[in-house]
Amino acid sequence: MRKIIVDTDPGHDDIMAILTALAHPNELELLSFCTVAGNQTLDKVTNNILKIEDYLDIDIPVFKGCDHPLVKQNQPQPAAHGESGMDGPLLPGPVRKAETISAVEYYKQVLSKEDKLTIVALAPLTNLGTLLKQAPEVREHIEEVVLMGGALQGGNINKYAEFNIWHDPEAAKILFDSGIKVTVAPLEVCYAGGILLKETERFDREGKVSKLVKDLFDFYCRYAIDRGWDSTAVFDLIPILYLLKEDLFTKKTGHIDVLLDGEDTQGQTLFSECEGAHTVLIDADREGCMKIFFDAIDGLDERFR
Ligand code: BDR
Ligand code: CA
Repeated sequence: MRKIIVDTDPGHDDIMAILTALAHPNELELLSFCTVAGNQTLDKVTNNILKIEDYLDIDIPVFKGCDHPLVKQNQPQPAAHGESGMDGPLLPGPVRKAETISAVEYYKQVLSKEDKLTIVALAPLTNLGTLLKQAPEVREHIEEVVLMGGALQGGNINKYAEFNIWHDPEAAKILFDSGIKVTVAPLEVCYAGGILLKETERFDREGKVSKLVKDLFDFYCRYAIDRGWDSTAVFDLIPILYLLKEDLFTKKTGHIDVLLDGEDTQGQTLFSECEGAHTVLIDADREGCMKIFFDAIDGLDERFR
């Protein structure tokens, strides 16, 4: 059983990942959510996770994190995630509220009490960069950071960079230079482990969680449909699937460096194979990935009626 904290900017794919984690309480103990500005503003993404908690009637503490990157300005992505950051489902609220201490303070407190925590980072790394700047000693208490971010070939936000790393490259560099064990799901493995658009039709059926997932995909898939693709990556799902079933993935060990500047290269991740602290997921068993995801949503339909 791994204890995990999910650092997130929901985000359609963030929610798919979180749902899949929730479906596996015997493997993953989800302690809390820490939100961060990324896909949308901090207030919007925090509201989004609270709305999901209201919808499912669950209580997992939510800590609001950093509202802008360490150096750059916020650059929300309404084309990918809508004005709310989670367009599609029409959810009221939220009624639930975030905790009163910040995500960075929470990390300091929980990491001083708990050993061996895994942080699953599905968003820009501003919270972790800030934490490591303020309290570098906490790294001893982090078992691993498993994150969605980076690209080996081409980017999705500039020529070479992936959005999460590009949004706060300085924070990403602090994490990658920290010596903490980091496992990375870059764009390519997320494409390899993606969902066929026709497979998303399976969620058009009875079931409270299926309905939510259908409404999320209805908006999220537009990006792929507009480009004539027949599948889409569910980016943030991959780190959770990796934690649930490592052998779905091939991987390499080495070191990742982050470029901080350049129109085409800001946020680019350069991977060199060596005996480093970083593991990069290279390829995925797509059908195996989707089986876990589909079974997770089926199980949640049974649990949340
Ligand atoms: C990443 O950026 C966000 O839009 C997604 O939620 C994911 O974390 C993909 O580049
Ligand atoms: Ca995300």
